[in-house]
Amino acid sequence: MSKGIIITFEGPDGAGKTSVLEEIIPFMEKEFNQPLLSTREPGGVAIAESIREIILDVENTAMDKKTELLLYIAARRQHLVEKVLPAVKEGKIVLIDRFTDSSVAYQGSGRGLDKEAIKWLNHYATDGMEPTLTLYFDVPSEIGLARIEQNKEREVNRLDLEKLDMHQKVRQGYLELAEENKDRIVTINAAQPLEKVIADTKEVILQQLEA
Ligand code: TYD
Repeated sequence: MSKGIIITFEGPDGAGKTSVLEEIIPFMEKEFNQPLLSTREPGGVAIAESIREIILDVENTAMDKKTELLLYIAARRQHLVEKVLPAVKEGKIVLIDRFTDSSVAYQGSGRGLDKEAIKWLNHYATDGMEPTLTLYFDVPSEIGLARIEQNKEREVNRLDLEKLDMHQKVRQGYLELAEENKDRIVTINAAQPLEKVIADTKEVILQQLEA
């Protein structure tokens, strides 16, 4: 392997993909004799980081669902042209924490926006470019949320239930995407202990990229 490729990391909140990525970066640097870039969405470059601040600002309660979607898409486009594509051109392996599938799972399945429209917008923003490989970290919603809430021992309230409902929809969206894109998406059981998830991830990467 010597040409630039893109590997995306996807999953619902609490799947642990960011912890896995921390271990995978040094592993890949050692295993593949090729420069590597690790980045994330939304953000990664100044313009996209500014958009991220608008999206995630807790003051922005008035934000419409479609506005939210379009901001994610805008951040994606800028990050792709300014950072990801130049790195691919230089022959780098680019690891991205979240990409197009997040919009389909969160804004489509989670928020109920039209998935076909989202797929079209993704296609428009990326000029149809797809990752070489997508690792989907699958975790049942109860486990994912429990990990997030780990240190807060308290009763489940109405907002928690809403969160559970949203989380379940997002997971369902990811499962459908994995079913529809078997050639690109590999599912990793992220309900296992972190060490096992990391070991499985390394195995999948080696298999898929044939080091
Ligand atoms: P972040 O703090 O980066 O969370 P994580 O570590 O889970 O990736 O926040 C990103 C949030 O944005 C996360 O909850 C998922 C969401 N998101 C979308 O809803 N749509 C998208 O297209 C993307 C890229 C992210």
